[in-house]
Amino acid sequence: MDRFVIRGGKPLAGTISVSGSKNASLPIAVAAAILGTTDSVIRNVPDLRDVQTLRRLLRHLGTETEYSPASHTLFVPASESLGVEAPYELVSQMRASIYVLGPLLARFGRAQVSFPGGCAIGTRPVDLHLRGMEALGAYVRVEHGYILAQARRLRGAEFSLRGPRGSSVGATANVMMAAVLAEGTTVVHDAAREPEIVDLGRFLNRMGARIEGLGSSTLVIQGVSTLRGAEHAVIPDRIEAASYLIAGAMTRGELRVSGAERRHLSAVLAKLTEADVWVDWEGDTCRVTVPNGIRSVDVTTDTYPGFPTDVQAQFMGLMCLGDGVSRIRERIFPDRFMHALELQRLGANIQLGEGEAIVRGVPYLTGAPVMAGDLRAGMVLILAGLVARGETVVSRVYHVDRGYERVEEKLRAVGADIVRVSE
Ligand code: UD1
Repeated sequence: MDRFVIRGGKPLAGTISVSGSKNASLPIAVAAAILGTTDSVIRNVPDLRDVQTLRRLLRHLGTETEYSPASHTLFVPASESLGVEAPYELVSQMRASIYVLGPLLARFGRAQVSFPGGCAIGTRPVDLHLRGMEALGAYVRVEHGYILAQARRLRGAEFSLRGPRGSSVGATANVMMAAVLAEGTTVVHDAAREPEIVDLGRFLNRMGARIEGLGSSTLVIQGVSTLRGAEHAVIPDRIEAASYLIAGAMTRGELRVSGAERRHLSAVLAKLTEADVWVDWEGDTCRVTVPNGIRSVDVTTDTYPGFPTDVQAQFMGLMCLGDGVSRIRERIFPDRFMHALELQRLGANIQLGEGEAIVRGVPYLTGAPVMAGDLRAGMVLILAGLVARGETVVSRVYHVDRGYERVEEKLRAVGADIVRVSE
């Protein structure tokens, strides 16, 4: 297991470039592999552990993809028949494995996906995914730890995917990848509006699907009988971009972040502005500076276009250095606060309540050994380590490797003192 050893206090300066979106690449690769009757080429796919896990899952189903880390291109060959099982070993490593459910069912009439278990960021049910498949006419049951779904041919239907916390990204993706091959028209209400869903929808439309309403909460999908492969470039990773914007703000250097999509960052940019972090754009590159000091502001996570839960941890890191009190409310995953306890080890002043954290700014953090509990929690510990006095050792960085491409190399190139130590 690798660790990061970080010596804090170096202001970051230079340009860091944003990789392709992990959360868009995963469903797009699944759609290409399972639904395409000809080959697909997907560009701007980040070199991440989750992408490797997905390729292993696709290999298990019977298709061998080719990936070039140098060009970030994923070649996905067409296949005429595939296995239909996503085993526990892979689903337990990556919950997004559940994305194979909808497309396998739509194309091959059957899917068998290990039921995703608990997760470090709290309860993460999959009832909406299953409800969507049932609404499309599938017979779904859970047995021996597996979701088993069957349907001769899916039928279009009109239904809502509203969950207790609003829309679901995963359920929307799964339903889209199923409904594109269903007989007739599907109307999905309360669909997720996240840019990653729009990107998946655009890719599916390039494959020959007929999806309307992308980016709105109502999707209208006319089923077609087959889909071909397609070429596509994945959108930039807005969560990675936000993480590096916050890195620049916390270290008070003069960091530039390039290749980001400004439109996708509106909620984060609004909060940074409120916190008196200056972000100046020139094309797709922005410069982050903190001329006055960080103002403490409140933030509540929400579905897109609201403030993303995937940036909550990093923003909490920033608020640890604020000039007052910040209230951080987590609406999407109310238990997603494991990073708060680790940040306290670095000297942060955080009080946890029901679905919220009260963060009182402190003048400085001090280095300590800490542990990454999940992907974004791992990132905030790195960010905190970059400003903490002395040495911070972040263990379990495999979480970070799931979703941040070569994070230590990117940070080192802009002046951070961070090294990876393998045991
Ligand atoms: C995706 C992202 C994850 C992000 C999350 C919210 C991927 C691979 N992961 O996860 O990084 O944090 O969106 O933006 O893209 N829910 C149900 N029943 C369900 C499904 C979800 O109640 O069947 C609830 C969840 O518990 C949560 C909320 O809906 O409270 C949103 O979850 P969802 O959007 O589905 O998240 P994921 O797709 O798992």
